[in-house]
Amino acid sequence: MTTAIEPQDALAAFDQELQRSSLQGHWKMELPSFLEPKSRLHPMHWRWSQLHEFLRRSGDLISVNEAGRRTVQLMNPGITGPRQWTTHNLQMSFQLVLPGEVATAHRHTMNAIRFVISGGGTYTTVDGESFLMEPGDLILTPGWTWHDHINESEEPIVWIDGLDVPLQFAMNAAFIEEFSAPQQPVKRIVRTAADGTEGPDGSTWYWKGPDAEERLKKLAKTARPDEPVVFEYRHPDGRPTLPTLLCTMQLLRPGEVTTPRRHTAAGIYHVVSGTGVTTIGLGGNAETTFEWQSRDAMVVPNWTWHQHQNRGSEVALLFSMNDQPTLESMGLYRQETRETAAAAR
Ligand SMILES: [Fe+2]
Repeated sequence: MTTAIEPQDALAAFDQELQRSSLQGHWKMELPSFLEPKSRLHPMHWRWSQLHEFLRRSGDLISVNEAGRRTVQLMNPGITGPRQWTTHNLQMSFQLVLPGEVATAHRHTMNAIRFVISGGGTYTTVDGESFLMEPGDLILTPGWTWHDHINESEEPIVWIDGLDVPLQFAMNAAFIEEFSAPQQPVKRIVRTAADGTEGPDGSTWYWKGPDAEERLKKLAKTARPDEPVVFEYRHPDGRPTLPTLLCTMQLLRPGEVTTPRRHTAAGIYHVVSGTGVTTIGLGGNAETTFEWQSRDAMVVPNWTWHQHQNRGSEVALLFSMNDQPTLESMGLYRQETRETAAAAR
C-alpha cells in the first residue's frame, strides 16, 4: 500500500531541495502590499564643545603618521555592522592637522569633500593643484585624484571630511593606493577664486567661503519669506558637487521656521554659525528636538519629517551634505511637504 504525498509536503520538500542548491522560489519571499522607506538611522546631534575636546585630545595621543588621517568620525548607532557610518551612504568626520604636519599623499575611488572650520595656512593638493584652506572653504578631492594636506602655519587646522565610503564599501568596488612619496609635486598654487577654481577636468574643485555667503545673502534679499534660502554647490553645468553627494548651505533668517519636509536623501549637517532648533520626526511618536549652536553636527534620517528654526537675532548658516545625487541616478529621489503629500493622496 502506498501513502499519498500531500501537495504542501511536496512543496516543502521542493523548497528544501532548492535551498540545498543555493536557490529559492519567489513564493518564499514576504512582500508587503505597501512599502515606503523606514529609516534605520538615528537622529543625531553632536555638540562642538564635545567634538572639539575629543579632537584636541586625539592631537595629544596620536601623530598624523600613526593615524594615517587624524579624524574623529561621526557614527550612527542605527547602522549595525560590520561597522558604523554616519549614514548608510555617507561618512562625515572632523580632521585635525597640527602645525608642521603632513597628511601624506594617496588616492582612492571614494569621492571626498573638505569644508574648513578653523585655522589657515594649510594646503590641500589635488592632482598637483594646491588649494589654500581657509574657514568656510569647500575643496573637492574627486574619486581617484591624488591628494595630500600640509599645515605650514603656526596653528592647528580643523576641517570636515565628507566621503561616500559606506556606499562604495557596500558595492564592494573601492580601491585605495598610496603615493610613492609623502607629498606629490605641486604644479599650481590657488589661494583665491581669481586664481581659478577649476581642476584639470574643468569641474569646480574650490569654493571660497565668503563667496558662498555673499551669494546666500543676495538670495535672501529677493526670496519670499516662505521660500528656503539655499545655495547648492554645483558645477557650472548643473552637476552636483560630486556624483554621489551634494553639498548645500542654507541661510535661516532670524526667526525663520522652515516648512516641514521629508526626502529620501539623508542629511548630515554642520552649523557654520547661529543658534536654533531642528525638530525631527515631526508629529510622530519619536519626535526629537535638537537645540544647536555654532559648529555642532547633526544627522537628519532619510524619509523623516524635519523642520529647522532660527531662534537667534542673527542669520544662521547650515552646511549640509546628502546623498541626493545617488538616489536621483537610480530614480529613487522623492521629496514632499505636508501640502504635496496631502495633494498626492
Ligand atoms: Fe583620502
